[in-house]
Amino acid sequence: MKKKPARAATKAGETVRVLLSRKRIQERIAAMAHQIRRDFGGEPLHLVGVLKGAVFFLADLVRCLSGEVSLDFIAVSSYGKKTESSGQVRLTKDLDSSIEGKNVLLVEDILDTGLTMQYLLRVIEQRRPKRLRVAVLLDKPDRRQAPVTADYVGFRIPNEFVVGYGLDYGERYRNLHDVSVLSFGGRAKPAE
Ligand code: IMP
Ligand code: MG
Repeated sequence: MKKKPARAATKAGETVRVLLSRKRIQERIAAMAHQIRRDFGGEPLHLVGVLKGAVFFLADLVRCLSGEVSLDFIAVSSYGKKTESSGQVRLTKDLDSSIEGKNVLLVEDILDTGLTMQYLLRVIEQRRPKRLRVAVLLDKPDRRQAPVTADYVGFRIPNEFVVGYGLDYGERYRNLHDVSVLSFGGRAKPAE
């Protein structure tokens, strides 16, 4: 049975406009997986997904990766309902197992200010992986505050707030198949 894409249950004043279709996302992920596998040769890969936004990206990426692959998850505090990062990052769920000596691929939904990624890289590097690389589905380079880059980037996008395919606004919209721009009564950001 063909899956029907979920429709957005928008609240008053909120509108969503498709930026990246599910087809484009799936094609790009397949190409990223191919590149990642080539870079790591036949070595085992340990994927660390950042909850919750990266779950959808990770689930599709891992199924395009051949060879030996294992998974773990980590969670950090994020925006809550706001669209601006507080800059304060806190670990709310640690890894289940040691990553020492492993080829770790940190999988994140979006690189925005980079503050979350900077924090995560510090935490993970302390655990002495053999290699550490970063894969993000989306990158908003215009917003960067911390000097971090990803090794694998799905799409570079403009400075707009996006939802869908795992990305949320106050925990809503993760179920959309496309990545869409969320706007609030014609404005790009809600009045806070
Ligand atoms: P950073 O610390 O500012 O780079 O923010 C990273 C986190 O903020 C991501 O993991 C997302 O959860 C969230 N985030 C940043 N930009 C967006 C967006 O446009 N839509 C939804 N979540 C976002
Ligand atoms: Mg989020």
